Amino acid sequence: MTGNDIRKKYLDFMAKNGHAVIPSAGLVPENDPTTLFNGSGMQPLVPYLMGETHPKGVRLTNSQKCFRAEDIDEVGDNRHTTFFEMLGNWSLGDYFKSEQLPWFYSFLVDEVGLDPNKIYVTVFQGDSSVGVPKDTEAVEIWKKILNERGISNGVAEMGSEKEGGERGMKEHERIFYYDSSKNWWSRSGKPEKMPIGEIGGPDSEVFYDFGTEHNPEFGKHCHPNCDCGRFLEIGNSVFMEYIKTETGFEKLPKRNVDFGGGLERIVASTINNNDVFKVDLLWNTIQQIAELSGKKYEFVKGELSHDKDYDSCTKTKEAFRIVTDHIRGAVFMIGDGILPSNTEQGYFVRRLLRRAVRYADILGVPAGKFPELAKSVIESYQEHYKNLSINRKEIMATIEQEEVQFRKTLENGLKQFNKIELQIHVNTKELNGKKVLDKENAKAKKAISAKNAFDLFTTYGFPIELTEEIAMEKGLIVDRHGFEKLMAEHREKSRSGAEQKFKGGLADQGEKTIQYHTTTHLMLAALREILGSHVHQAGSNITGERLRYDFYHPEKLTPETLKEVEDWVNDAIKTGGEVTIETMTKDKAQKDSTIEGSFWDRYPDEVKVYTMTGSDGTVFSRELCGGPHVNNFTEIKGTFKINKEESSSAGVRRIKAVLHEDQPALIF
Ligand code: ALA
Repeated sequence: MTGNDIRKKYLDFMAKNGHAVIPSAGLVPENDPTTLFNGSGMQPLVPYLMGETHPKGVRLTNSQKCFRAEDIDEVGDNRHTTFFEMLGNWSLGDYFKSEQLPWFYSFLVDEVGLDPNKIYVTVFQGDSSVGVPKDTEAVEIWKKILNERGISNGVAEMGSEKEGGERGMKEHERIFYYDSSKNWWSRSGKPEKMPIGEIGGPDSEVFYDFGTEHNPEFGKHCHPNCDCGRFLEIGNSVFMEYIKTETGFEKLPKRNVDFGGGLERIVASTINNNDVFKVDLLWNTIQQIAELSGKKYEFVKGELSHDKDYDSCTKTKEAFRIVTDHIRGAVFMIGDGILPSNTEQGYFVRRLLRRAVRYADILGVPAGKFPELAKSVIESYQEHYKNLSINRKEIMATIEQEEVQFRKTLENGLKQFNKIELQIHVNTKELNGKKVLDKENAKAKKAISAKNAFDLFTTYGFPIELTEEIAMEKGLIVDRHGFEKLMAEHREKSRSGAEQKFKGGLADQGEKTIQYHTTTHLMLAALREILGSHVHQAGSNITGERLRYDFYHPEKLTPETLKEVEDWVNDAIKTGGEVTIETMTKDKAQKDSTIEGSFWDRYPDEVKVYTMTGSDGTVFSRELCGGPHVNNFTEIKGTFKINKEESSSAGVRRIKAVLHEDQPALIF
């Protein structure tokens, strides 16, 4: 069974049990500024778990796209990924434990075909300090389920993960009580970590036993919550019925179930392999990397003669996993409209892709292959996530652009890194009056200065985490605190600069946004000249990363026309020219047929007209506008490129375009 098969099976199974199948929410939460990404299936449903009525009823199910930024550095082992899909079902004050637990068990055993002998479960041992009792109710339900299947159903008291490792498990034991660090779920973790107003509750988790040998580095004995890799959690039923208040925990108006299960982990169980990268959804990309790099993902026992070789193979495998995970995460983010940038969600797309470039280089994947890798991700997922096939071109173009852009500075950045490293070392020790390298000392004490880290970011496009990672490999640390201070100062400077210069208008008024604004005027002039004077503005939305422009025109533009518009604008920018401002009465402007304008009634009686004149005297554009604009075309950096042309509404087309830059843009 493939990942797509199992996702479908789960949704069908839940639908059969009365659940409405709802679509996955986007990766970026709506109306929730507390977090950058949806990191669990319940996140978009919090208002409903707190008591609001959901339009689709009280039983819901979906497969939610999730991204856990905090796991970026964990990627490389057999189970951590930044992006993943969480299969979920919810009872909003409807069914409870006695339906939920048998359903999930039956899904695993009867639908997916897992061997019941390999399934173990855990339950909450209770916590008197928060007034929540031991979950004997769940235990009774589990005992019955296991008994009916002829599986031994012994119960064990484990406590914490550490205590579990000391105690171990006995042959007949299947049901394990753990404390609130393991069997209590909220978005912030155990009860004492929850802020006031947060919801949570005891949970019951299901584990699959891969039967691998126990690794004593993780504790004396193995047990379901041991991290050695033998057991993998494949589903978590949270009995979400509490809210934290000033005085302690109170019951929510209704008892809810919040179930979440990692799709890849369930698929991994069906192939009895505890490496989630072996799941077909990810394996396609692993294979593609193998093909492109000529490297093997892994070796079987006996193929290698030296331990040293084995070590380097572990590193190779890690690199395969990092590239695969990061490309997949970036594909899904871009598919949701998040573009690489230096702020917020866009920063993670950039960070993922740039880190992936480094690891792809380590593997020897030739430059320029990221779009192909992205394609393998899209192909694996497009059956369920239609937005990936719809936005395929845009996703691949964005990934290509980010790879190209970073590669332009990567090599020099790495050289600069070596210089910095050398300086640090040289400054460290003097021998016979001469400066020599002292790596040991450097390792122990020396830090890459805030200024150097800042330059690596602004000039060479190295996200700070990448700088830290490379530094760590070289045995150095980075003055992160100082770096953050410089960044804050820099942001403050660009903000106050912008405030002084301009008032009102665009999404923000940073330099780049203004360049886009002037480019938008040139584009409208191009459209009017190429398509005809029926073209007028219907809407405009400009940020420091792109322009989005709606205009009146009855039909789709051909690729040739789009190219013509691009060339027109780029030629105008290249010719060079000036932007001048005139102030006149609205009446006068309206009567002047050379002046283009929309939404006249939004303007005051006295208006501003911006004229763009080429250096050869050609008037490109005269337009009614509030500004701000560049003074001179030379301030516009980058090549104008239309990424998308589509219908916006009847008779209105929409263009999304960028100024494709050679140097990484600094956008704050
Ligand atoms: N919300 C629960 C989790 O993420 C199901 O584990």
